[in-house]
Amino acid sequence: MSALDELYQTICNCHKCEISKLRTKAVPGEGTEKAEIMFIGEAPGWHEDQQGRPFVGSAGQFLTQLIRSIGLEREQVYITNVIKTRPPDNRDPLPQEIANCKPYLERQIDIIKPKMIVTLGRYSMGMFMPGKSISQIHGTAVKKDGVLYFAMYHPAAALHQGSLRSVIQSDMLKIPALLDELKRQNETIQVQEPQKAEFEQLKLL
Ligand code: URA
Repeated sequence: MSALDELYQTICNCHKCEISKLRTKAVPGEGTEKAEIMFIGEAPGWHEDQQGRPFVGSAGQFLTQLIRSIGLEREQVYITNVIKTRPPDNRDPLPQEIANCKPYLERQIDIIKPKMIVTLGRYSMGMFMPGKSISQIHGTAVKKDGVLYFAMYHPAAALHQGSLRSVIQSDMLKIPALLDELKRQNETIQVQEPQKAEFEQLKLL
């Protein structure tokens, strides 16, 4: 069994939170283990709870379109949420629920090792870029330990506030260039290392 499958089993058997008693299905996440980009939303909604899959309702349909807009299919990325169980009536996740689920998200990141983490909405952003305001940092990226963190509005925001649709679409279109630049920087660092070693050797001679 793969590490990801093992993790899915653990998540599906997890009852750390009261809300686990109310769920139809846990929603661990889906996509390829080789994904360069990981999208992290907030929490499963009604459709996700029914199917055990992330982002399959109307916000999910918009996310699928956004992913296609950068020339990718859902199967080529990884999609998950901050918490893996639907909160009743789609209320906001509680701090304790976020804390209980945090090791699962950390393990997913550890297994997949994405080059870029795209946070969807403020709960996801808050985990990686605490204390920031989404209206200020959406569409911008920060690099930490070689990983690029890119904040976006949640796709559901466009369903409630139509004017955000084009903002979300144009933020998404920034992703390919940012990822290319990150890869270029990482390659440059790799090329520089052997050269540095050679230089050190020359100095010794
Ligand atoms: N909203 C989310 O944050 N995640 C989903 O999976 C669906 C809707």
